[in-house]
Amino acid sequence: AFIQGNTAEQPISQTTNQAISKEVTILYGSQSGNARGLAQKAAKTLEGSGFQVTVSAMSDFKPNNLKKIQNLLIVVSTHGEGDPPDNALTFHEFVHSKRAPKLTDLNFSVLALGDSSYEFFCKTGKDFDERLEELGGTRLYPRFDCDVDFDEPAAEWLQGVLGSLKETQGETSHPIQKGALQTAESVYSRTNPFQAEILENINLNGRGSNKETHHLEISLEGSGLTFEPGDSLGIYPENDPALVELILHELKWDPDEPVTVKTGDVRPLKDALQSYYEITVLTKPLLEKVSKLSTNKNLQDLTGHEGNIKEYLKGRDLLDLVRDFGPWGETAQEFVSVLRKIPPRLYSIASSITANPDEVHLTIGAVRYEAHDRKRNGVCSILTAERLQPWDTLPIFIQRNENFKLPQDSDAPIIMVGPGTGVAPFRSFMQEREEIGAEGKSWLFFGDQHFVTDFLYQIEWQKWLKNGVLTKMDVAFSRDQEEKVYVQHRLVEYSKEIFEWLEAGAYFYVCGDEKNMAHDVHDTLLKIIEKEGGISPEQAVEYLSNLQQQKRYQRDVY
Ligand code: 2AM
Repeated sequence: AFIQGNTAEQPISQTTNQAISKEVTILYGSQSGNARGLAQKAAKTLEGSGFQVTVSAMSDFKPNNLKKIQNLLIVVSTHGEGDPPDNALTFHEFVHSKRAPKLTDLNFSVLALGDSSYEFFCKTGKDFDERLEELGGTRLYPRFDCDVDFDEPAAEWLQGVLGSLKETQGETSHPIQKGALQTAESVYSRTNPFQAEILENINLNGRGSNKETHHLEISLEGSGLTFEPGDSLGIYPENDPALVELILHELKWDPDEPVTVKTGDVRPLKDALQSYYEITVLTKPLLEKVSKLSTNKNLQDLTGHEGNIKEYLKGRDLLDLVRDFGPWGETAQEFVSVLRKIPPRLYSIASSITANPDEVHLTIGAVRYEAHDRKRNGVCSILTAERLQPWDTLPIFIQRNENFKLPQDSDAPIIMVGPGTGVAPFRSFMQEREEIGAEGKSWLFFGDQHFVTDFLYQIEWQKWLKNGVLTKMDVAFSRDQEEKVYVQHRLVEYSKEIFEWLEAGAYFYVCGDEKNMAHDVHDTLLKIIEKEGGISPEQAVEYLSNLQQQKRYQRDVY
């Protein structure tokens, strides 16, 4: 007999509808844009399988809505000493606070990004993973902790999540037609970089400077790549051939011996060390793996103590390792298999594509230092400073950075704090604002060691001051007088005016060194708000955090 309302035999179309209405929320916390990119990739994949996906930065998500979510994916990076990215701060705090609701109906999974050369590897992801469980959530799929070479594990995580999501719905989801979600993006990406030609490479510092800062112009012709001011350029650099030679000399292996890299490609050992593997940074997992391969007693002793590992890793590279713990009995293949793939370096773009079609400009400071009695070089910056010439090519990609964007409203005033190479994105801002004829006021704070040798792009700033694209510029040349003068000292001098600009809706941007400069500028800004606003330190914190929420306090720090 036909029984009305029998749900056991639903028509197929109804099952499909039900599956398609299955909602998944993806929240990301991203500093450099990797977590954001992966979140968007995950959204596309899930949508392609019939899920309804909402993707949002944690900072744009109303924490109170957490209760309403059934399926939650978190993609979050960790930086510095285990800190959440800026756009994850408030949400991270909320979830860990007493205000966080019980989440017994929640299914979740966490994709954590990090760098295993840091002590607090993937800490923010681990925090979320633990806390969501504590609040009553059920893990859809185990957390994945990804190292700098995240593409592969991230893809694996996504497949796992997709499988679990399908299972929770009894395999009823239907793929949406392929191609329906494709956007008109360039075919080139982080995983498929564009071989770009170098057009110019100029040292911006004058003779006698302590600094060497290169202005690089790169052609995007034929790539279809485009970007906005505030975005970054990723470069896959090559290691220093001299360092590779020293390592090979130490290992006594044949430079031409073929080895198989992670992609399955076979290359001569020398090439693999020069352009595929990371040789300038050591990590704890690497030490542990090498120690399993080796019979060296000292290495076993070292890796037996957590504290010793941490101490050894500081400032050492692969050459130190091979010198300190020989002889090396294993094959070249065994040895290279424990190495990480060389991660791309990200640089804040210094030009506007509107002003310079088919080009991208960078401002790269040469990194040279000494550690453990040996001179050391930054991989990409020294490649740029010493070996890169016009006509050479580099594998590059665009890394979007939605956390560092000009105001939508071109009439809005902007304050830019960018000492040293931190000035790069502001050159892009000014080029863009000049090109589109923006009316908003703008104020640049620049600093470096010496006026005569280190005033990066001086002529351009002066041109923009003259034609009104730049309203004000204040500079801090730290070593031109007895006492150090930094950008934050200039901010204090103009305390009243800065507060007036903020009250009038100004956006405040900081780019450059994170550990010292950005931290000090942050504290200075709080003091300015406290003093000029006549409010308490707590209220000043609130004021600044409101600015951040409104995207009127943006930082691109490294
Ligand atoms: P210094 O090298 O004389 O210490 C760009 O590198 C500029 O930033 C330099 O003038 C550098 O000064 C300065 N700088 C160093 N530490 C800083 C800090 N904590 N805050 C702001 N600027 C700083």
